[in-house]
Amino acid sequence: MPDGSQIDYDGLIPNNVGLADDLRVRKALETWHPGYIDWWKSMGPEGFQDFPVYLRTAVGVGSDGWAKYGFVRMPEYRWGILLAPVVEGRTIPFGAHKGEPAWQEVPGEYRAMLRRLLVIQGDTEPASVEQQRHLGATAPSLYDMRNLFQVNVEEGRHLWAMVYLLQKYFGRDGREEADDLLRRRSGHEDTPRMLGAFNERTPDWLSFFMFTFFTDRDGKMQLAALAQSGFDPLSRTCRFMLTEEAHHMFVGETGVSRVLQRTAEAMKEAGIDDPYDIERVRALGVIDLPTIQKKANLHFSLTLDLFGNEISTNAANAFNAGLKGRYREDKIEDDHRLTASVYPVLRPRDGAIVNEDVPALSALNMRLRDDYVEDAAAGVVRWNRVLERAGTTFRITLPHVAFNRRIGEFSTIHTDTNGAILSTEEWHVRRESMLPSVGDNLFITSLMRASLQPGVYAGWIAPPRLGVDNMPGDFEYVRLEN
Ligand SMILES: [Fe+2]
Ligand SMILES: [Fe+2]
Repeated sequence: MPDGSQIDYDGLIPNNVGLADDLRVRKALETWHPGYIDWWKSMGPEGFQDFPVYLRTAVGVGSDGWAKYGFVRMPEYRWGILLAPVVEGRTIPFGAHKGEPAWQEVPGEYRAMLRRLLVIQGDTEPASVEQQRHLGATAPSLYDMRNLFQVNVEEGRHLWAMVYLLQKYFGRDGREEADDLLRRRSGHEDTPRMLGAFNERTPDWLSFFMFTFFTDRDGKMQLAALAQSGFDPLSRTCRFMLTEEAHHMFVGETGVSRVLQRTAEAMKEAGIDDPYDIERVRALGVIDLPTIQKKANLHFSLTLDLFGNEISTNAANAFNAGLKGRYREDKIEDDHRLTASVYPVLRPRDGAIVNEDVPALSALNMRLRDDYVEDAAAGVVRWNRVLERAGTTFRITLPHVAFNRRIGEFSTIHTDTNGAILSTEEWHVRRESMLPSVGDNLFITSLMRASLQPGVYAGWIAPPRLGVDNMPGDFEYVRLEN
């Protein structure tokens, strides 16, 4: 078995899984490849397939120097299959098989469950590329355009990562699933993507930054939980994906920061103290802070739905089976079996929202969501530092977890952003004060015009502090004429 230390960069598919000697899987992937390229060309970034983009490509799996930068046309990007190195003697870290050697082959009794986990994860990767495919046309700068495309090609690679596991370990079923991953379409009426947030539109750049901040962070949590898996190839795959995922959240966090910074600066220059003086703020050509808050409310609540039902037998089974662990399972000090412990779940009861202890095994989705909220909140603190430094009193906050939910315990009630329960009538009256209205979206759309001169930024967003790969401020990240 290849241990992950050797990177083969010569074949059609760069890899460190010994594809050169694995004829069956190589053939399967090479058969899948043309369909992938067709999908990329028809559903990937629209209008920019022929231009050289300054992208990083994964070329190794070490902790330093795993990527190289260079100009590449996106359809020629080297999507590779890279797994984190083997950890000698690794054992299953949790569940009923805790302490047994990690599986190198699919455990027969859990085959269906494992396949479903791979397909659900895999489906999100091409979905986000589809959702973001129109954004190149309105990029606020070449720097941002390049970051968008970087995220897109890496989501493409994440699809490859899951497809490799399906092709390698699931034979014919895996091939069919791999084909279906190219067949579903984000937002399609008949063949939608599997999860709700991945069928929503990403209509503007503020949505894109919110999506990468909030929804890619769900990806991070899911990958972190799968990185603990007792199925070793999945664990190694996810560990490497997490290195790329960090950049996606960087794009979201700094993107929103730069929008906040620009708005706060423009208000200061114009002598506007009241952030709710929306007409005057908008007249400056920047996005008012309350609308940014509404966008955060929307993307946070849509993303919380991705964690599924708070109380879930599937999650319990996947944990028990040793397939999907908790966030930072290896750092938690308990028995890692959870057969005798409880976990508090927040739920509506008789007109109030209360905490109830339930068996910890069935509350794993809730726990992962709690870890997610904590992680997201830390990012919001960093956003607010930007506002503080710019001298505004406005602060971004995360809405209550019960707000605007469609899945789980809170899907049957309405609340405001503080978690106060509302009647359906009150909800309809107050909705537009908490979520982006048609008017808000139209205003944001009106600002979305491409800014394509190197080093020039649209008026609603501040330039970044540093260039990609330490490039100078006027670096031409996308070469639009050639
Ligand atoms: Fe991804
Ligand atoms: Fe991502």
